Amino acid sequence: MSEPAPREANPKLFEALKGSRIRDENLNRLGKRLVYQVHILLKTSHIHLAGNAALAQPSERLVKTIEEILEWRGAANLRHEGDHLYLDDLRLKMDVEGYIGFAEVIGNFRRREIGSVRFSDEVSPQEVIEFAHLWATATASGADALQELLVERGVRHIALDPPVSHPPSVHPERVTQKAVAKRTYFRTITAVAEVMESAKLKQAIGVKKSKRVVQGLVDLMLQDEMTLLGLTTLRSHDEYTYSHCVNVCILALAIGQRLGYERSHLSDLGIAALFHDVGKAEIPLDILNKATDFTPEEWEIIRRHPILGVKSLLRLKGLDDISTKIVIAGFEHHLNYDLSGYPRLATPRKLTLFGRIISLADCYDAMTASRVYNRIPLAPDKALRLMLKKSGSAYDPLLMKVFVNCMGLYPVGTIVTFDTGERGVVIGAHPSPDRRGRPILKLIRDASGREIDGETIDLADPTLSPARRIVSTADAASMQIDLTRFFL
Ligand SMILES: [Fe+2]
Ligand SMILES: [Fe+2]
Repeated sequence: MSEPAPREANPKLFEALKGSRIRDENLNRLGKRLVYQVHILLKTSHIHLAGNAALAQPSERLVKTIEEILEWRGAANLRHEGDHLYLDDLRLKMDVEGYIGFAEVIGNFRRREIGSVRFSDEVSPQEVIEFAHLWATATASGADALQELLVERGVRHIALDPPVSHPPSVHPERVTQKAVAKRTYFRTITAVAEVMESAKLKQAIGVKKSKRVVQGLVDLMLQDEMTLLGLTTLRSHDEYTYSHCVNVCILALAIGQRLGYERSHLSDLGIAALFHDVGKAEIPLDILNKATDFTPEEWEIIRRHPILGVKSLLRLKGLDDISTKIVIAGFEHHLNYDLSGYPRLATPRKLTLFGRIISLADCYDAMTASRVYNRIPLAPDKALRLMLKKSGSAYDPLLMKVFVNCMGLYPVGTIVTFDTGERGVVIGAHPSPDRRGRPILKLIRDASGREIDGETIDLADPTLSPARRIVSTADAASMQIDLTRFFL
């Protein structure tokens, strides 16, 4: 056949489209397919031996995708960094449906201590099968060791590289980042207060300031998620509604980030989350701030807030095409995934992704706070476990998984007691999803119960001495522990 090899025909096209949206969209589509197919291949090879017919089709499909990628660029290099997968320098946008595949491929990379897999021109289905089989069965880990084994098996067109070093969980710049985070957090509270005030006065709601602060939160989220999530544990009891809105915004951004949302999309999600309870501006404060349980009549009033919110949000000014998304998300945030919530709908409809994300973030913050739907705050891990029981009914099950991966099984702010008698406060989740049950903590009480400004420990660190086991958890407020000093 005289058909030119794709790579000879396309460098020009590649150059011409460099940095263009078309190129990125195509590569993103192909990258997602690559991840899905690698996931299927690795999964199949765990069950079947190399040579088994079950691997033939997945390997051929994978090679076909690689060839398509190579038409766009010189190499198909799938790599991971932090919680993201990249096709070379392009961060792949993950959608909810692709989440499991992404998470498992990242998990596989981490377990094998591999940073990237490069498939080059002329890679064959047989080489891909050898690679998958080796990946599934080899006892060795690490790029060099596995590469050697690949060469032994005659694989010439797949190269492995070690991971790039990750930033340590607690890095020195955090001190200044913490100050920036704190400032942005409080500015956001002020912005929410202003929005609520306009809503209360039935004035047009300006969003310029909110947009600016949310962009600040997005930047922080991309740089230092841990500090920002720490701030959500701070509760202002006088300004409950405001801090709640900011917290829901931060939690929603954390989920959006895991889904690979790019900056502008994160910013839209953040605004929708920040405004989700705008309808509460019209609920009398004596009901909202009531210290005892709500009467049925008061519940009736509270349940109006999503609809009141829609009316307020229709008065938004300065917003473009994202206004609809914001209005709908506000309307949906108490509907629940299975529509069992409120307001009742005449015709069933599928909740938007923004609505589903915000509803998850909203419930988590409401459950861990000492106000609103429950009078007694729940320890963060207990709230998460309760929510997990309703995964698939009240909450989107895939988003629930994303949320647990983001928060860990002991979310930030949880007070834990160790078998040594010491106590600690969770300050961050371990970056690896396999270690969700082993958070990063700061010791706050010694074995005799004395308050200490203890060290930061990583429960996933095998060299940790003494090795500690969590025996119980509690909420900071019920233990009368002020979290301010750990997170501000
Ligand atoms: Fe609400
Ligand atoms: Fe809310």
